[in-house]
Amino acid sequence: MQYVELPSGARMPMVGLGTWQLRGAKCTSAVRTALQVGYTLLDTAEAYDNQPDIARAIREEGVDREKLFITSKVSRSHLYYNGLLRACEKTLRELETDYLDLYLIHWPNDAIAMDETFEAMAKAQERGWVVDVGVSNFDIPHLEQALLVSKTPIAMDQIEFRPHYNQTVLTNFCHEHGIHVTAYSSLRYGEYKGEHTLREIASKHDKTAAQVVLRWLVGKGVVVIPRSTSRAHLLENLDVFDWQLDDEDIERIEVMDRIVA
Ligand SMILES: NC(=O)c1ccc[n+]([C@@H]2O[C@H](COP(=O)([O-])OP(=O)(O)OC[C@H]3O[C@@H](n4cnc5c(N)ncnc54)[C@H](OP(=O)(O)O)[C@@H]3O)[C@@H](O)[C@H]2O)c1
Repeated sequence: MQYVELPSGARMPMVGLGTWQLRGAKCTSAVRTALQVGYTLLDTAEAYDNQPDIARAIREEGVDREKLFITSKVSRSHLYYNGLLRACEKTLRELETDYLDLYLIHWPNDAIAMDETFEAMAKAQERGWVVDVGVSNFDIPHLEQALLVSKTPIAMDQIEFRPHYNQTVLTNFCHEHGIHVTAYSSLRYGEYKGEHTLREIASKHDKTAAQVVLRWLVGKGVVVIPRSTSRAHLLENLDVFDWQLDDEDIERIEVMDRIVA
């Protein structure tokens, strides 16, 4: 596994498990399998309605909390001061933990002053509920505003990012400002299996289209959180570190969002 270092000094794994749309027994089972095959980064949100299912998986697998890196997100309707702190407390209760490794603003909400939200984030940090704080779905103007008002460093922007939604410009902006990036929906909800260019590149390296996408992203220093309920896919998605794409592969992937499929 490779890691990125967050402002607190914490190390965040570069591959984790996404859990959007996983609920109940299906969620618990996917998280248990992921823990069994070596995942330590789990990505959730209050909006996913699955935090108790994740807690159950961790409890049943008997994994020590310190071995895990848990990211959760506060919903955009809870970004006022008391709302955020209440939401954070509920998330901790649901996840059966004393702290979150990373807490993100799920979506910006222009109706609530951003300084109020970051003040609440700083309070959650001061209370020890949250180690690092960040954002999600923030574009450059939102990030510029956040950088102005936040008294605590912004560790992360979690954004939709895949070959057909190339966010290299936003990623470069983040990296220039010391903000890490996590890519979501990077496997296009599982639809990349048959994609011609990715398949060609994959067969050259004896890998799969999904691995090519994930390798492309981690090669940019971007964290990935593919969601999977399949043990085989979970293992496949971890295998993105000890091989490389060449310059020609990368050039072909970089232009994919300019070609009409
Ligand atoms: N911040 C936000 O607003 C936001 C929004 C959306 C998502 N997210 C986060 O990002 C995570 C990932 O995004 P996502 O859930 O939208 O979708 P995704 O990871 O792009 O795609 C998930 C789909 O890909 C399939 N898959 C996984 N590994 C595969 C492999 N190696 N080969 C072929 N298919 C594979 C899965 O099927 P199998 O189960 O069969 O493997 C599943 O159907 C979410 O779960 C969530 O944690 C955040």
